[in-house]
Amino acid sequence: MKALVLAGGSGTRLRPLTHTTAKQLVPVGNKPILYYVLEGIADAGVTDVGIIVGETAKEIRAAVGDGSRFGISVTYIPQHQPLGLAHAVRVARDWLGDDDFVMYLGDNFLFGGISAQLEEFRTRRPAAQIMLTQVPNPSSFGVVTLDATGRVVALEEKPEFPKSDLALVGVYFFSAAVHAAVDAIRPSARGELEITDALQWLLEQGLDVTSSTVNGFWKDTGNATDMLEANRSVLDGITPHCAGTVDEESELVGRVVVEDGAVITASRIVGPVVIGRGTRVEGSYIGPFTSVAENCRVVDSEIEYSIVLAGAAIDGVGRIEASLIGRQAEVTPTPRTPQAHRLILGDHSKVQIRS
Ligand code: DAU
Repeated sequence: MKALVLAGGSGTRLRPLTHTTAKQLVPVGNKPILYYVLEGIADAGVTDVGIIVGETAKEIRAAVGDGSRFGISVTYIPQHQPLGLAHAVRVARDWLGDDDFVMYLGDNFLFGGISAQLEEFRTRRPAAQIMLTQVPNPSSFGVVTLDATGRVVALEEKPEFPKSDLALVGVYFFSAAVHAAVDAIRPSARGELEITDALQWLLEQGLDVTSSTVNGFWKDTGNATDMLEANRSVLDGITPHCAGTVDEESELVGRVVVEDGAVITASRIVGPVVIGRGTRVEGSYIGPFTSVAENCRVVDSEIEYSIVLAGAAIDGVGRIEASLIGRQAEVTPTPRTPQAHRLILGDHSKVQIRS
């Protein structure tokens, strides 16, 4: 059994963060999403892992290395253009050989791992096994139709008029039968070789595509709202621990992690919250479900339900909520006069201002 992790693609929906960071490396609970993916694979006992990389290959390699720290062995497989999930399987064909494999999308956040599903796949031995979950917005996903007995009968990629509310989760188990399917399909209207089409082809050949339902938390972290929700879910499970310095004027309430070298002065932190290495929090309130990465500065400010990336500075700002703040970003108040907002925003930035 091998694992194929997809960490290519362009991440347009997470711009501007993904102008400088691969979307699979954006952190939740101060840890890149891709690390949760690799830990889940290692926990299931799969150690031979291929990672599909695109234009952010350098960064992904720097973050993951040879995989030994996760207890896995990593082979990097370049994909020159993000031409679809089934295209990634085609690109990995030689490396995969005729082995069974689990394909795991590197921006999918799945709580509870994949061990149970892998065991099910090994026992049932279908051509492919997929994971499903009910969603309120099926048009944003691959959508699956089941018959009255729960058998998979049809799949469609992001249909305008979905026939069910069952979305495909980005973890798929395949036997070598998938390669014939990938060779048989043609690019979709959006120009991609869709894995949903390959699965549909398997069904049409009379092969078995089984499904299991995800009961735990799952998010495709493709957009900011989902990132914040994934962050909430991770922080919900943290164990408090303080390796930094907290002065007597400060109060830590509930589950708060203060990492090595972080310094908290005259501040109130209401968990669950993670404060990263070397970050300074001064005269501030940090509220539930906030992750502040390493080497940030939060001074005379309030922030809640947000993710702050490495090296960002928030200084003298009233209250920030439900926000994603990029690396080295600065948020400061304007001078009293003129009464105007001053913005230097990167391409594709989004700002909501109380006017
Ligand atoms: O998250 C689940 C959904 O993932 C499924 O419901 C859909 O059926 C499936 O097509 C996929 O949809 P997305 O629109 O979310 O896929 P996205 O383009 O975001 O790519 C998913 C991951 O795979 C992401 O980490 C980038 C990587 N990727 C993507 C493409 C198209 C590659 O490595 N190569 C590619 O060619």
